[in-house]
Amino acid sequence: MQTQFKTRPLKISASVLSADLAHLADQCRLVLDAGVDMLHIDVMDGHFVPNLTYGAPVLGCLHRALPDAFYDVHLMIEEPDRYAPDYAAAGADLITFHLEATREPGATIAAIRKAGCRVGVSIRPATPVKRVFKYLGEVDLVLVMSVEPGFGGQPFLPETPARLAALRAEIDRRGLPTMLEVDGGVNARTAPLCAQAGADVLVLGSALYGAPDPAALLADLHALQP
Ligand code: DX5
Ligand code: ZN
Repeated sequence: MQTQFKTRPLKISASVLSADLAHLADQCRLVLDAGVDMLHIDVMDGHFVPNLTYGAPVLGCLHRALPDAFYDVHLMIEEPDRYAPDYAAAGADLITFHLEATREPGATIAAIRKAGCRVGVSIRPATPVKRVFKYLGEVDLVLVMSVEPGFGGQPFLPETPARLAALRAEIDRRGLPTMLEVDGGVNARTAPLCAQAGADVLVLGSALYGAPDPAALLADLHALQP
């Protein structure tokens, strides 16, 4: 059944990688008060990507400080099956792993579900979107990287809207509820391209933490229709 009108409102997930990490809880509170829907926690292991960020204890502290926030955890790590339960126990609501980081995506999906979390699967820019089609019915969300994973503040890759549109078409063709998230270089200029291509969730890091008025930016983005 064709989905004639998307009824889901656009959601915004703040990548706290761009926050002042010396004041992480306050910086999370700042964007929550400004109107973000989720906190996007970028976990990096220095192997899957050439950068290192935070372990599960950091998420646990954030969750204790801000128990009502929605924690959108993006695992850019090898062995996601091994570590996902730690992030689930620390308070993750959604755990997204990389298709390229596991030989057994089905087992990874099952491990995250068993840990009690919603499941997302992410693909790097070089991974053809068709590679994730077979999992669309098994996950709650697909995360399309619009930059090479590893760092905030990178420019948006122009081929991203076409990749989003191809996934949106397949999700709608199959009448699935699977959500579509985009991550990297999303800002006031690129966000409309992503919404028009069918994204449900936009991740913003540097554009949000660098905004002179985050609440005004978020109000504009929430007004975009998918
Ligand atoms: C990159 C991360 C993104 C990044 C987004 O590997 O997955 O979440 O922090 O930051 P911006 O919005 O600045 O590109
Ligand atoms: Zn991310």
